[in-house]
Amino acid sequence: MGAGANPTSGTWLSTGVDPSHQVALQARYDALAAQPATSLSCGGAADLAEPLPGQVCVDLGCGRGRDLVSLARKVGPTGRAIGLDASSRMVEAARARAEEEGLAQVTVRPCPLEALDLPDASVDWIVSNCALNHALDKRRVWAEIARVLRPGGRFVVSDIYAVQPIDPAFRHDPVAVAECWAGAETKPDYLGQIAAAGLVDVEILSERAPYRKQQALLSSFTLRGRRPG
Ligand SMILES: C[S@@+](CC[C@H](N)C(=O)[O-])C[C@H]1O[C@@H](n2cnc3c(N)ncnc32)[C@H](O)[C@@H]1O
Repeated sequence: MGAGANPTSGTWLSTGVDPSHQVALQARYDALAAQPATSLSCGGAADLAEPLPGQVCVDLGCGRGRDLVSLARKVGPTGRAIGLDASSRMVEAARARAEEEGLAQVTVRPCPLEALDLPDASVDWIVSNCALNHALDKRRVWAEIARVLRPGGRFVVSDIYAVQPIDPAFRHDPVAVAECWAGAETKPDYLGQIAAAGLVDVEILSERAPYRKQQALLSSFTLRGRRPG
């Protein structure tokens, strides 16, 4: 794992899978961290999570921290809302937001989706909004989600999926993956990866009508499921 340092911008914590992807993602999200009016979400994952006061919630790819604030209010001062994001600029923005709101139960730190810096079986709810499509190794991300959830712990994830398989010419194009389209899986592949991680009771809570983005036909959905136990 390494941090991509650039004195004029933030840093990107990656698992070192492919430096060109890191450069494209960092360029996009360093810029977007400073644009609070731009929506980066593709569903209502945080609204559909139902943590109890005192529980631990983690937002994967928390961006500027909007969902983290709502999760922190749900878990209250005795709970914890942890935001993880590879972009140091996003981490700074999310921390500033939590501080403005006076939410001491929020922690935000740089962390890649593919290697969560959380103990096994330590999390009650995983939430993520429009972030997992960026991961090059999504099976690893889902295995990490299954590892950190407590037995019976739940996830609610909003993400894009590919209505038709992404053209192989773009599948690994770093800029196209950073722009939230070429990294999209088909729905069967997406659900298959979740099942392969051992997560169960997966429900599609909402789904958007298909739309075109560059060379792709996409949709987005919000899924809920749980770790057995
Ligand atoms: C489209 S934005 C969504 C942000 C936020 N969840 C929201 O709904 O506003 C995707 C976020 O995922 C983060 N991200 C993308 N790939 C990542 C990775 N491999 N590890 C950690 N964070 C990642 C980006 O830095 C960015 O903040």
